[in-house]
Amino acid sequence: MNEYSPNLAVIKKVRKETHDTNTYTLEFSDKKLQKSFSPAPGQFMMLSLFGIGESAISLSGTSNNGSVTTTIRNVGSVTNAVLRLKEGDFIGMRGPYGNGWPLERAEGKNVLIVVGGMGIVPLRGVVNYIKNNRKKFGDLEIIYGARTPDDMLFRYEFEKWKQIKNTRLDLTVDELPIETTSKCKIGLVTSCFPSMKTHHKNAIVLVCGPEIMMRYAAKCLETIGFKDQQIYLSLERRMKCGIGKCGHCQIGLKYVCKDGPVFNYADIKPFIHPL
Ligand SMILES: Cc1cc2nc3c(=O)[nH]c(=O)nc-3n(C[C@H](O)[C@H](O)[C@H](O)COP(=O)(O)OP(=O)(O)OC[C@H]3O[C@@H](n4cnc5c(N)ncnc54)[C@H](O)[C@@H]3O)c2cc1C
Ligand code: FES
Repeated sequence: MNEYSPNLAVIKKVRKETHDTNTYTLEFSDKKLQKSFSPAPGQFMMLSLFGIGESAISLSGTSNNGSVTTTIRNVGSVTNAVLRLKEGDFIGMRGPYGNGWPLERAEGKNVLIVVGGMGIVPLRGVVNYIKNNRKKFGDLEIIYGARTPDDMLFRYEFEKWKQIKNTRLDLTVDELPIETTSKCKIGLVTSCFPSMKTHHKNAIVLVCGPEIMMRYAAKCLETIGFKDQQIYLSLERRMKCGIGKCGHCQIGLKYVCKDGPVFNYADIKPFIHPL
């Protein structure tokens, strides 16, 4: 079998998230594959549009019947073409690839999720996983920052997230448009740290967002007692093969596609965005 061959998937549902981002529910045409498909939160797929190209895309959710959701922002050729697709259209997908979040290591610990912008996409699966396995984890705290309230993804789920036992959700934005009714506070995600409840003792931190934001978040967490080994980041690099062959995503001695995209901060610190 050619490992670069995509599997066909049909778009069952399109949900508008923001002005430039949609969530797609997808089902594989191959029903056997559909049944056995069980990606871990934080893994990614190579999504293809025939005649246009491929892009690495996280999974924002999975369901028991094997359908998956992806949440895609229009930034360039492939993602722009995806945003023009409708229910019933087909795309190609291969994967899942990468390691995913260290959920086993997080068991028994308090979990702090720090996300900026699209970073919430690969962590939505973690929130759902903790909800479905609540007893295995300690407290859950989610700090989510976006440009404006209208740029926040999965807003329709926030109330449900807050109702997960021992869970706190803290939202912050860069700016509040005058006409908004949102009560979000203004500030970077790091501005939420002084009021956060998660203590560094017996905690694990999962961070995803723009690299500069992750770097600042990790640095601030260090100053309040978190150790590098407690912090995990999901990195984004331009990907081609997605399976450790082409070298496009190399960072130091690692391949983001194969060894990541989730890395322990202690291992990756020298190679990421300098402050
Ligand atoms: C592991 C992983 C998971 C991802 N998950 C998602 C997701 O769930 N949803 C989503 O919308 N996007 C996700 N992305 C980002 C997505 O892969 C890129 O936005 C996409 O490849 C852009 O393709 P394009 O053809 O639309 O844009 P292009 O036309 O190729 O590029 C548009 C612009 O974006 C820049 N660019 C493209 N890809 C990247 C990249 N990987 N890193 C930095 N700059 C880039 C280009 O330099 C250019 O300036 C993920 C990336 C990785 C590596
Ligand atoms: S994308 Fe080819 S080695 Fe990672």
